[in-house]
Amino acid sequence: KKPVIIDCDPGLDDAIALVLALSEESLDVKCITTSAGNQTPEKTLNNALKVLSFIGKDLEVAQGAGKPILKDLVIAGDIHGESGLGGTELPEATLKKSNRSAIEAIVDILNKSDEKVTIIATGPLTNIGILLVSHPEIKDKIERITLMGGACFGGNKTPAAEFNIYVDPEAANIVFNSGIPIVMCGLDVTSKAQMFKKEINDMRNIGNKVGVMVADILDFYSSTTTPHFLSDGTKEEGPHLHDVCAVAYEIDPTLFITKKCNVVVETSGEYTKGSTVVDYNGVTDRVKNTEVVFDLDRKRFIDMLFNAVKKYNE
Ligand code: BDR
Ligand code: CA
Repeated sequence: KKPVIIDCDPGLDDAIALVLALSEESLDVKCITTSAGNQTPEKTLNNALKVLSFIGKDLEVAQGAGKPILKDLVIAGDIHGESGLGGTELPEATLKKSNRSAIEAIVDILNKSDEKVTIIATGPLTNIGILLVSHPEIKDKIERITLMGGACFGGNKTPAAEFNIYVDPEAANIVFNSGIPIVMCGLDVTSKAQMFKKEINDMRNIGNKVGVMVADILDFYSSTTTPHFLSDGTKEEGPHLHDVCAVAYEIDPTLFITKKCNVVVETSGEYTKGSTVVDYNGVTDRVKNTEVVFDLDRKRFIDMLFNAVKKYNE
């Protein structure tokens, strides 16, 4: 089993990413840590606890930093709803938050692990940035950081910047400069990881409560993200399962097409702050620090999610 830690900000697609990761036998999820992003730090923590309680997974959930390293927190209530889990009314969590912080939990888990641990990050990179600055020696314990964030082409928060990187560019900059192998599931691939109306209905009809939760989430996500779709309206667009891609990559990287590139983060541009500058054409001799994910086999990806949800039969 591959040991992983998931740092997330649930968040609609984060919640689905958790459903996928926690159903998967090949992953040994050591703990969940939460970042501030899609909603306030209290809400993303509470949402992680609620999702885990609902799907019946008893795992350590540790709260991370309350705000980005330098910037004020920007949230995405317009997309993910007031609660951060729009479209669903999950029961109060039965699981309690860990009594240690995200950083304490990650440091302890990494130090105790015989194997290197992979970090899957699906929110702003604040916790990971702080971890790498406060515990630089811990790098050797990290196998890889597979993250949802950034884009080679075009942003979703600003014309140049994707939301997770935009929220905490300083943290992202630390991560991309760390020397740790990085897999970047940016908008280039995640905008192709769509789920269409019929598939959402089939998800609802799987016959268990997790399928209904995922479908409720996706219906809400469709309603809030439709105005942002790049489509010209001539073909169907479904919600983009951004964060699910990062987990899916760790389960089966053969679903994806990647290219190794140098990636740096713009922390100060007037129009480009928070963008990832991908040297796609290799025009610099900067080190190729990132496996940039560009495409996926959408059908197999959706099948993977269906199989995951089916495992939650009550
Ligand atoms: C990313 O931003 C968040 O709103 C989503 O959860 C995802 O992690 C997409 O840009
Ligand atoms: Ca997220």
